[in-house]
Amino acid sequence: MATRTLLAADLNPIETNALLCGGIGPRPIALASTVSQDGLPNLAPFSFFNAFGSNPPMVAFAPNRRGRDGSVKHTYLNAVATGEFVIAAVTHAMVQQMNVASAEYPDGVDEFVKSGFTPLPAQIVKPALVQESPFQMECRLHQAVELGSGPGSGLMLIGEVLAFHAQEDCFREGILHPEKLDLVGRNGGAFYTRASGDALFQVGKPVGRPIGYDALPEVLRQSRILTGNDLGRLANSMEMPDLDAIKPQATDRSDPDELERAIHDALQREDMAEAWRLVGLRSRL
Ligand SMILES: Cc1cc2nc3c(=O)[nH]c(=O)nc-3n(C[C@H](O)[C@H](O)[C@H](O)COP(=O)(O)O)c2cc1C
Repeated sequence: MATRTLLAADLNPIETNALLCGGIGPRPIALASTVSQDGLPNLAPFSFFNAFGSNPPMVAFAPNRRGRDGSVKHTYLNAVATGEFVIAAVTHAMVQQMNVASAEYPDGVDEFVKSGFTPLPAQIVKPALVQESPFQMECRLHQAVELGSGPGSGLMLIGEVLAFHAQEDCFREGILHPEKLDLVGRNGGAFYTRASGDALFQVGKPVGRPIGYDALPEVLRQSRILTGNDLGRLANSMEMPDLDAIKPQATDRSDPDELERAIHDALQREDMAEAWRLVGLRSRL
């Protein structure tokens, strides 16, 4: 498969931004609420956003210099001037109003009013909470980091979370459940991802030390039928069964391709015992 390799030094900021936004996604979206020094509210979304520690809880997002002229966004100016911001998670039900809040309104325009989101007083900081969001964080500015000075350059705000607000009905089985939150993420161009329904799947964390890919029989590693995910599931096993001890059953196939397809199907059903039994048969052909 052909690969396009691009040296960062040969790209302009617009091309660079398109690569970063397309290749790093879906990105969580922070709907950031701030106030100016005069107390005027401001609200805007930012997808260069994540959490970076939990003790103390630290989050960061980047209201970068405008690509057009290198000017600084209201959110950054406000957060640096007041040392505070609120971050609200964005759900699918909030997407269109969030989009309105992203428009470049002039200084002094309150995007709560423009977007129709409802401001609610926060407990510790001055910026308002967003009533429509099921998960929010009140933050104190920890550090503002300038990552350049030209158009599109990074201006990162790192904040310590002082208070979390999570809607009670979003907790299920001890976690903030994605199905309940129905969050959205940002991809390249105008694409978004909805993190619920068919988009959700679970992958159990490795417990202990899995046997690893290198322990799998060579014939499996060379398979044209088994996928990287199939091999990954087998490699995630805690111990290698004794493959030589596996006895074929009357109904078992002896065709290598059919056996590999059967291994694939067993893994799809998460029937690890059957998958390993078939691996034993396949590795002896
Ligand atoms: C989903 C989404 C994500 C965005 N992410 C960012 C981002 O990470 N950094 C950024 O500088 N602008 C981002 N923007 C654009 C800002 O929201 C936009 O420039 C906004 O007008 C800034 O408002 P402010 O000047 O009131 O701070 C994003 C827009 C949308 C719709």
